Amino acid sequence: MQQLETVVKKIQCEASKINLCIGDDLRQLKDTMEPLLCEVLEYGLLAGGKRVRPLLVVMAARLCGTNSEDVYRLAIAFEYLHAATLFHDDIIDNADMRRGRPTVASQYGTSAAILTGDFLHARSMFLVGDMVGSEGLASFCGATSGMVDGEFLQLRNAQEYNLSELDYYRAVMGKTGLLISSACEVGGIYAAGTVEQITALKMYGEKLGSAFQIIDDLLDYLGESGKTGKSVGNDLAEGKMTLPLILAMAAADATDKKRLEEILADEALREQSFTAVFAIIEKYDGFVKARKQAEQDVKDACMQLALFTDDVQEEKAFLEGLAQYVLARNV
Ligand code: IPE
Ligand code: IPE
Ligand code: MG
Ligand code: MG
Repeated sequence: MQQLETVVKKIQCEASKINLCIGDDLRQLKDTMEPLLCEVLEYGLLAGGKRVRPLLVVMAARLCGTNSEDVYRLAIAFEYLHAATLFHDDIIDNADMRRGRPTVASQYGTSAAILTGDFLHARSMFLVGDMVGSEGLASFCGATSGMVDGEFLQLRNAQEYNLSELDYYRAVMGKTGLLISSACEVGGIYAAGTVEQITALKMYGEKLGSAFQIIDDLLDYLGESGKTGKSVGNDLAEGKMTLPLILAMAAADATDKKRLEEILADEALREQSFTAVFAIIEKYDGFVKARKQAEQDVKDACMQLALFTDDVQEEKAFLEGLAQYVLARNV
């Protein structure tokens, strides 16, 4: 496995290539599109972001033996769809900060954020169809509809204080796992990988996506806003039942459980009770147990890469390293 530092450098190097490709694509659009749309696209797409999903497309294609630079044009479609979901998600979640600055909706208003998200949906689907045809589109559109389904499930879950871990994982798979998995799958399809290779990549992505969201949920309690670029405590304020809270709720004694339920039921209390809820989660090892689950998912993800052979050793080591980065990240 590669050192984390090496992995981070490589991620940054690939991210700058992805950014160049997004910049090229936006320049092309500029001639024909409304100036405000172009401005919002640049604001939402060209300032920060880890570029994990496009990076996975590129690496999955390389793992299946293709080194063509054209893959970046396919890869950016995954960043476009991701960005579209973030523009919309920040409206749904009442979030005002993203990537260290005001969300698109806070900066340009809800209409511009919705419409620019819609634009990116269309553009991303065009790019995927153009680059990989209907097989790739089937995966990409499956991920898109699955995300919406996952968000609906999450809405229903928010009213269930004794949520099962299973319902949490179902929502996570929908809203995060499927797109990450599709990025891996479509990279494999682009490179004409074998059915076994593409299936392994897809399963790697599902497990990685699950770990990715668990860590995101942990960072919503444990992270630093200056690093994540998002507000801390937003999930609690929104009444989201994320894994650390679910695990604490399941282990809590009657008094703590009652206290948590009182807080969760009241919007004003949720906003004031971050420290109290944090302490209860910690008391019942909710953070530690959630992290263990993310570690297990990362192990399971890496096991899927076993069928790739020595001729792609470096690419495989990088994807293993990327999985470790997902666990170690604080951004
Ligand atoms: C945030 O994704 C949304 C989740 C699915 C957790 P990222 O953490 O990849 O956000 P950026 O793209 O780096 O800003
Ligand atoms: C991911 O969940 C949402 C999407 C898949 C769009 P979150 O709501 O936790 O993501 P953040 O924390 O706002 O980035
Ligand atoms: Mg959100
Ligand atoms: Mg989050």
